Amino acid sequence: MTEVFLKPISADNWQECIGLKVKDEQADFVPSNLYSIAEAQFYPQAAPLAIYNEQDQMVGFVMYGVDVESGKWKIFRLMIDRAQQGKGYGRAAMEQVIEQLHARPDCNEILIAYQVENDAARRLYASLGFTEVTASDGKVTARLDLDKG
Ligand SMILES: CC(C)(COP(=O)(O)OP(=O)(O)OC[C@H]1O[C@@H](n2cnc3c(N)ncnc32)[C@H](O)[C@@H]1OP(=O)(O)O)[C@@H](O)C(=O)NCCC(=O)NCCS
Repeated sequence: MTEVFLKPISADNWQECIGLKVKDEQADFVPSNLYSIAEAQFYPQAAPLAIYNEQDQMVGFVMYGVDVESGKWKIFRLMIDRAQQGKGYGRAAMEQVIEQLHARPDCNEILIAYQVENDAARRLYASLGFTEVTASDGKVTARLDLDKG
């Protein structure tokens, strides 16, 4: 099974993180990591995390936090570097984020949004149990119920 390690973005790794890039045809699916790391500075609950593989190589970036509009926990970003896609890293990172959020007493559900045409994201999230709840302006929002009883 593919294993990944999530580490906070820090003074030591942010520059490497902004060098990660998605494929050209995926550019509209996610803002640059530079943009996301800048944005995170203004949201105290945002957790911007670098994704590392078992060889301690940085392979991606993920960021979650509380959605200002709904007050719910949301995964704002997920990207795997273009050279590292298709190796199970995206799934493994999502599983860890879900685990981290599950451990929070104030989190009973997780939201995530993606573009309608983003098949890879849709399939990945659906396979993890997310169900689509709303769609507007070409964007779908899906929700995972953490079933805490
Ligand atoms: C979406 C993304 C994070 C998936 O990461 P990844 O490491 O390549 O994905 P994995 O190897 O873990 O694959 C997990 C699942 O994603 C789906 N998937 C991944 N690549 C896919 C592709 N090219 N076409 C269709 N489905 C795909 C599959 O369901 C796959 O499950 P499977 O291996 O059982 O078939 C990656 O493609 C990416 O960074 N895309 C650009 C940014 C983006 O769209 N982010 C999401 C914004 S909401």
